[in-house]
Amino acid sequence: MEARLYQNHHVAELFVKDKITYPDILKKFIIDFLLRLDPDRKSDQLQFDLMLDMGCANGLQTKIFAEHFSKVIGIDKSEEQIKMAIKENSSDNIQYVIGDESNMPALDNTVDLVWCCFAFHYMNVETYIRECERVLKSTGGTIICGHDFVDIMLHENEGSQLQSGMNILEQYLR
Ligand SMILES: C[S@@+](CC[C@H](N)C(=O)[O-])C[C@H]1O[C@@H](n2cnc3c(N)ncnc32)[C@H](O)[C@@H]1O
Repeated sequence: MEARLYQNHHVAELFVKDKITYPDILKKFIIDFLLRLDPDRKSDQLQFDLMLDMGCANGLQTKIFAEHFSKVIGIDKSEEQIKMAIKENSSDNIQYVIGDESNMPALDNTVDLVWCCFAFHYMNVETYIRECERVLKSTGGTIICGHDFVDIMLHENEGSQLQSGMNILEQYLR
């Protein structure tokens, strides 16, 4: 699918005006998901190390996760979106970089969460999964969220396991 639309400065300006944000339950779901992946973590230890937000656009959503991580990196292919993210949604522990799924900007086994919302349909699936397997800690995972699905990939030592998130999400929506 083509993502050139987002490289247009006018579109970046329109996108920032919309200010559509995620409901709080989604953030709770994500933190609960990470806690489940790392049962040894103390329940009051709510801050994780590193999150990547793939296809972060103007960073509006990236910023809502920043309090839960020592560092969050927002990655987007569009220079216009990254410029807008730096202008509108900067914070001390957020870095914005131009990039894509082919080279996630993190060392091996260092990332707690790779988050990708409404952008996965633009990416190469195999490349995304390969990079996730490289960067994710054994206690980390990726959550891919689209318009009509939510999937969770649990990253385990023996390989990756894909699991539908819809049933899990449903309990948060009740
Ligand atoms: C609908 S926006 C997603 C916005 C944001 N993730 C959110 O949840 O509101 C899609 C974004 O994906 C970016 N994008 C498209 N292809 C990409 C790729 N291969 N790697 C990184 N970003 C990409 C676009 O530039 C655009 O900013």
